[in-house]
Amino acid sequence: MNSPANSQAGAFANLSGTIVLVGAGKMGGAMLDGWLALGLSPRNVAVLEPQPTPEVAALAARGLRLNPSASAVGEVAALVVAVKPQVAPEIAPALAPFVGAATVVVSIMAGRTLAFLADGLPGAALVRAMPNTPAAIGRGITVAVGNARVSDAQRALVDALLSAVGAVEWVADEALMDAVTALSGSGPAYVFLLAETMAQAGAAAGLPPALAATLARATVAGAGELLHRSPLDAATLRQNVTSPGGTTAAALDVLMAKDGLAPLMRMAIAAATARSRELAG
Ligand SMILES: NC(=O)c1ccc[n+]([C@@H]2O[C@H](COP(=O)([O-])OP(=O)(O)OC[C@H]3O[C@@H](n4cnc5c(N)ncnc54)[C@H](OP(=O)(O)O)[C@@H]3O)[C@@H](O)[C@H]2O)c1
Repeated sequence: MNSPANSQAGAFANLSGTIVLVGAGKMGGAMLDGWLALGLSPRNVAVLEPQPTPEVAALAARGLRLNPSASAVGEVAALVVAVKPQVAPEIAPALAPFVGAATVVVSIMAGRTLAFLADGLPGAALVRAMPNTPAAIGRGITVAVGNARVSDAQRALVDALLSAVGAVEWVADEALMDAVTALSGSGPAYVFLLAETMAQAGAAAGLPPALAATLARATVAGAGELLHRSPLDAATLRQNVTSPGGTTAAALDVLMAKDGLAPLMRMAIAAATARSRELAG
C-alpha cells in the first residue's frame, strides 16, 4: 500500500493505549516528529531513551512520558524499536514487560529478523520494517513484513505509524528484506554518489568545481522531485528528455552500453543483498 504521510491525518483518532518508542535517535526521532505532526498527542507516547535530545525532553511538559516503568505505562498499542541492531539482544528483557496481549512490536533495526525478535519476545505480534534516510524529511519509503500474529487492526496502526515518515509497502515474504535493504535502504547513498560523480565529471569537462557541484546537486534533486510528482515512469521521463542524435542521447549511449550503468547497478545491489544476508546470519 502506498500511503503518503499527508493522507494519514486522523489515523490516530481512535487510538487506545500508548505508543512506546524505544530509541529516539535519528530514525526514531523522525518518526516521533511525524506522529506528532499527524496529530498524535504526546500524552499517547512514551519514549525509552537514555540520552533524550532537548526537543524530546521538552515534550514531557506536553504529557509525553520519558523512561517510565512498564507498570506506569499500562496498555501498549505499539512498541516501536528504533535502537541500533547491536544493542537489541541486551534490551529485549527490559522491553518484555511493555508487551501485552494487544501490543504490536515494530522493529526498524536493520538485519534483525522476525525469528530473532520472536526469540526475545515470544508470542508477540511482530512487524519488521526497513525505512530509509529520506524519512528524516517525511519522504522515506518503508517496507514492512509482519508475523502471523499481527491482526488487521494492528497492521493498520503500524501502517499509520510508518506512513508518518513516507510511503509504506508491505511484503508477505520476509526473504525479500535483504534485497529491499539493498535497494531502498542503502539506495539513498547511491543517489548521493550519482551527484558526486556528476559533479566530478562536470569539473573534468571544464566547469569550476563549485559550479559543477551546485549543478549536479540541483539536477539530482530536481529530477528526483519530477519523478516523485509525475505519473510517468522513469524510463518514459528519460525518453521525453532525449532527442535522437542530441546531447542527452550521446551521454545515454555511454551509460546504457552493455558495460554501462545497468550491469554495474545489478552488481552493486547484488553485493548489498548478499551482505544483508550475511549480517542477518
Ligand atoms: N538511519 C537510517 O537511515 C536507517 C535506515 C534503516 C534502518 N535504520 C535502523 O534504525 C535503527 C536506528 O538507527 P538510527 O540511525 O536512528 O540510530 P541512532 O541515531 O543511533 O538512534 C538509536 C537511539 O537509540 C538509543 N538507545 C541506545 N540504547 C538504548 C536503550 N537501551 N534503550 C533505549 N534507547 C537506546 C540511542 O541512544 P545513545 O545515542 O545514547 O546510544 C540512540 O538515541 C537502527 O537499527 C538502524 O538499523 C536506520
